[in-house]
Amino acid sequence: MNQDQRRWNERYRNKRFSTEPAEIVTRFAGMAPKGRALDLAAGNGRNSRFLSEAGFVVDALDVSDIGLRTLAGAGPNLNPVCIDLDRFDIPARRYSLIVNIRFLSRRMFPYIQEGLAPGGILIFQSYLETDHPDAAAPSCRDYLLRKNELLHAFLPLWIIFYSEAEDPNRNDHYQQASLVAVKTP
Ligand SMILES: C[S@@+](CC[C@H](N)C(=O)[O-])C[C@H]1O[C@@H](n2cnc3c(N)ncnc32)[C@H](O)[C@@H]1O
Repeated sequence: MNQDQRRWNERYRNKRFSTEPAEIVTRFAGMAPKGRALDLAAGNGRNSRFLSEAGFVVDALDVSDIGLRTLAGAGPNLNPVCIDLDRFDIPARRYSLIVNIRFLSRRMFPYIQEGLAPGGILIFQSYLETDHPDAAAPSCRDYLLRKNELLHAFLPLWIIFYSEAEDPNRNDHYQQASLVAVKTP
């Protein structure tokens, strides 16, 4: 068991996480052609479940077997895989939708772009650095996107939505960057 797995298993054992899908996923997933979807760092599978119910065949990848437990028996269109994304490369042109919510691995950026099939959609939302003294954020700066970083990382795609802002559903000054982009054929 590696450090990430130990840390996250502990969290999933001791804390309740929302089971509601992220708003950006419910808002934009319908733009993707139906087919195979990849949920990177799927956690308790809140987004994976939504996508499979919306008609996608979903690979839900996460290092925490405890987080993924909630997806056991979720049906033939939902494939939970316990895997360390530090050691995983996405197969090229495989997915019509890739979702990455509240997880940051810069190493994955090129694989995400290659992993999209032509016409495929990327939905990416994660923590953003902030100067606000009271903002909720991961303690390690490595897990924070810099301003404009997400925008620049995915410029080869056609970016149809981008924002850097506080999450309107929270009251702790939590900042996030959000991007939706299409891989043009
Ligand atoms: C903040 S949670 C977000 C979960 C989910 N995307 C969501 O929106 O609910 C971050 C997730 O990243 C996963 N994670 C952290 N490091 C990882 C790694 N190296 N490989 C795979 N998953 C990892 C954790 O287990 C955790 O489920």
